[in-house]
Formats: sequence, structure tokens, C-alpha cells
Amino acid sequence: MTMWIARTKTELQKHLASLPRPIVLVPTMGALHPGHSSLIDLARKHAGSEGSVLVSIFVNPIQFDKSTDLENYPRTEDEDLNICQSHGADGVFLPEPSEMYFKDLSITVTENLLSEHLCGATRPGHFDGVCTVVLKLFNLTRCDAAVFGEKDFQQLAIIQRMVRDLDLQVQIVPHATLRESDGLAMSSRNRRLTPEQRADAPRIRKALLTASSKPSAEEILSTACEIIEASTLTKIDYLTLVDAETLQPTDKITHSTILACAVFYGDVRLIDHIKTSD
Ligand code: PAJ
Repeated sequence: MTMWIARTKTELQKHLASLPRPIVLVPTMGALHPGHSSLIDLARKHAGSEGSVLVSIFVNPIQFDKSTDLENYPRTEDEDLNICQSHGADGVFLPEPSEMYFKDLSITVTENLLSEHLCGATRPGHFDGVCTVVLKLFNLTRCDAAVFGEKDFQQLAIIQRMVRDLDLQVQIVPHATLRESDGLAMSSRNRRLTPEQRADAPRIRKALLTASSKPSAEEILSTACEIIEASTLTKIDYLTLVDAETLQPTDKITHSTILACAVFYGDVRLIDHIKTSD
């Protein structure tokens, strides 16, 4: 079967009419890399050979707090479609912003707790934009399940909370973070690093791994900070211990404590995290 592409909601509904269930959705913003394709593979496993795998590719304007970030976001449509096809997606939803949002959009989803810290603290409105588009994609595709990467663990926790709080009938399937061989978490942003920054960036993972085995919150934070700041190329945005469920900062180290960070290389912001019990 050849993969179909829907650019409008109407086209999507036409394809959905004959789409066998379960429908498993992989929401993305494109610039696909092996991290994304492993999500598509997991979606296929989940859907089985009879079910359907959909990928959405949409650079969602309402989740960007800086217009330059939105403009600079890599767009690689042809390569993305090849990746979807070669990983066995049944269809791709690829709408334009004008197809997704009315000019006078006035109803959005707001999250008030889990988005307070970490990426939410420095990116006002970001997670409301994510929740709003993900809810719309769930509604438009009428999917039974959706796959999300643990790399964006705050996003994953917030989507799971949205499903719980709004009684959405969509099963959320998490996927472990895919890494380069040197430990750097795969990200579409990595391609914006200079060769020097790229060579330095695995220190983020090394810092988290080394720090996570320390016995106290203080030692965990100081060890990670030291390793990241040993480079002249890095600037820490945040380095925080949080409870895995509430995402509130904590200094208690339990099996559900997460050490999370965002680090700038120039204007490229990379995120990673680790369970302190790992
Ligand atoms: P995007 O950054 O394109 O990521 C799409 C999905 O791929 C997310 O679930 C993300 O966690 C996952 N992903 C990215 N890098 C990964 C890696 N190295 N290993 C495993 N999974 C990885 O996240 C978004 O888009 C958007 O916010 C979206 C949910 C599509 C809403 O617009």
C-alpha cells in the first residue's frame, strides 16, 4: 500500500473513513531523525499489521515563544516523507498553520502545575500551545493511541495529565530516548550546532550520568553543574531536581526523582534528564 498524504482536514477525513483501527498517531514537527523513526516503528508494533499508523508533521506556531525560533525551525519535507514511507506509515497529515488555526482562535488548553518549572519556566505559553495542538490532532485523527518520546519528559507528563484531566480516550505510549553513539540525545536542534559545539555536547549526558549516582541533592547538582560549566561553550538554562509525577522541584532523592537540564550552546538549547536511581 502506498502512503497517503493529507494536507487539509477534509482530505484527512476522507482517508480516515476507510482506515482500520487501532489508529496510532505519532505527532511531530518534522525534521525527522532516527529518534522520530523509532517512534513510528513503535506505533507500528502497537497498531499491529492490521491497524493504522499516522504521522503528523506540523510546525506548531502557537508553541513557539520566539518568532525567530519558529522561522529557524528546520523544514525537510521530502526527507521526512521518505522516512515515514520507509518506516511503514499508512498516512501523513501535513497541514499549513491556516488549516489548523482560525485567525481569531480564542479557546486553548491551559496547564497550571506541571508546566510551572523546567522548560515551562522560561518558555511562557509553550506547553499550552503543545496541549492545544495535540488535543486538536487527537480529535482530527480520532486516534486510539499516540506515541511520545521520553526525551521531552515534561511534555510527556503534561500530555498524560491532559488525557487524565480531560478524559481523552487516547492511550499514551512512551518511547525511550534515542541517543547518538556518544550519548547526546538525538534532536532536530543538533544539526544547528557548530562542529565544536557538537563535539562538546555529549558532556550533558556525562554530567547527568556522573551526578545521578551521588547520594545527596546538593552533590548531584554541584557535580552536574561543574561538568557542564567546565566548558566555555555552555550556558545552563536550568539544572533542577524534580519529582517525576508533579514536576515540582525537590531536594529529596527517591526512586522517582529526576535530574533535568537545559543547556545553551550559543542560541541552541538542548535538554536532557535522568532518573537519579538509574
Ligand atoms: P518534535 O520535537 O518533532 O518531537 C516529536 C516526538 O519525537 C516527541 O514525542 C519527542 O519526544 C520525540 N523525540 C524527539 N527526539 C527524540 C529522541 N531522541 N528519542 C525519542 N523520541 C524523541 O515534540 C514535538 O515535536 C511537538 O511538541 C509536538 C508533540 C509534535 C506538538 O507540536
